[in-house]
Amino acid sequence: MSKLRVGVIGTGKRKPRGDRFGYAMAYQHGNGYRALDTCELVACADLVEENARAFAEEFGFTNIYTDYQEMLAEENLDIVSICTWMHLHEPMVLDTCKAGVRAIHCEKPMADTWGGAKRMASAAAEAGVQLTFNHQRRYGAPFMMAKKLLEDGAIGELVRQECGAGNLYDTGTHFIDMFSFFQNEVPARWVLGQIDYRVENLVFGSHNENQQVVLTEYENGVFGLIMTGAPGGGNPVGCVNKLVGTEGVIEVGVTNGPALRYRLAGDREWTVPDTGGESIHGPGFIERAVADVVDCLLTGRKCQLDASNALIATEIIFGAYESSRRRGRVDFPLDIDDNPLAAMVESGDLKPEKSE
Ligand SMILES: NC(=O)c1ccc[n+]([C@@H]2O[C@H](COP(=O)([O-])OP(=O)(O)OC[C@H]3O[C@@H](n4cnc5c(N)ncnc54)[C@H](O)[C@@H]3O)[C@@H](O)[C@H]2O)c1
Repeated sequence: MSKLRVGVIGTGKRKPRGDRFGYAMAYQHGNGYRALDTCELVACADLVEENARAFAEEFGFTNIYTDYQEMLAEENLDIVSICTWMHLHEPMVLDTCKAGVRAIHCEKPMADTWGGAKRMASAAAEAGVQLTFNHQRRYGAPFMMAKKLLEDGAIGELVRQECGAGNLYDTGTHFIDMFSFFQNEVPARWVLGQIDYRVENLVFGSHNENQQVVLTEYENGVFGLIMTGAPGGGNPVGCVNKLVGTEGVIEVGVTNGPALRYRLAGDREWTVPDTGGESIHGPGFIERAVADVVDCLLTGRKCQLDASNALIATEIIFGAYESSRRRGRVDFPLDIDDNPLAAMVESGDLKPEKSE
């Protein structure tokens, strides 16, 4: 069988340490494809030619472009990884769907508006393209072990999930997506939230609130409580994901603590399972995610990173911003098109001070 032809849009520039201006996520996608016998990286596109050239050198091919449309037209690609900032995800996914590819693996967050996220999912479904988003923590040992503990009944019935993250949109998307992962993709019914946005916080060019509290209820009656950004940088939940059951609690990514621990009703101490050296960040999550994306394409199995699953967390995020705008509970389906946080900044309803 000939290998699947893979192209990348937005290679980034590798640097010793990633920050809010760039992680060069494309290299991690590239490592994932490179590890697979079924795939061959054949082309990349980046506005900055030297970025594209460096990526091509690293992965051993020569076809580089500064115009991704040209790459799509020329390269007869089976799979495209989109690793640009979020305001570009929607137009790039829509263009790539039209180019006749079979699969798109796009970085998170889905899009910079709720309408954009829905349009991407619809366009892919109409074109028969497998569209996935890189919520790679679904492939991390601490998270998979927590799900197994839950499914084995260790903490009884799940009552509530909690999440503590730096923000709701950029990093929050990972941990709110884990709510979906833990309870097998149940959609939410409503969301109620309030945000504080006093100092401009642009991450990959998009606004993120400074602090927020959000409550949501899923269709199975499980509640989700999300809290971000305590002043001074603390995590108000004390971990990134907490699963509260009728008979115990599981915590993942404990602040200054283990990657996973649980305590059953009556236990005096926490039990700390061995996660094999994996933290909540890796290693190996993205390679596993890419391998699963490719396997799903080849077998026809629905990927857990599918756009339909990513929409569940995305609706909660934009719904929470909308709740803050409306000053009330927002019942789903969410009937807006924009990004309420960005819109409130644009209209002057929110006036974050410029950061340095
Ligand atoms: N999954 C994760 O854990 C994780 C971690 C960090 C970042 N991210 C996400 O990855 C995405 C990309 O972030 P990054 O840090 O890799 O970005 P980056 O800045 O390192 O790379 C983006 C590249 O896109 C290129 N680009 C911009 N416009 C383009 C265009 N029109 N055509 C072609 N190339 C273009 C830029 O020149 C740049 O080289 C963001 O959505 C971010 O939220 C995900």
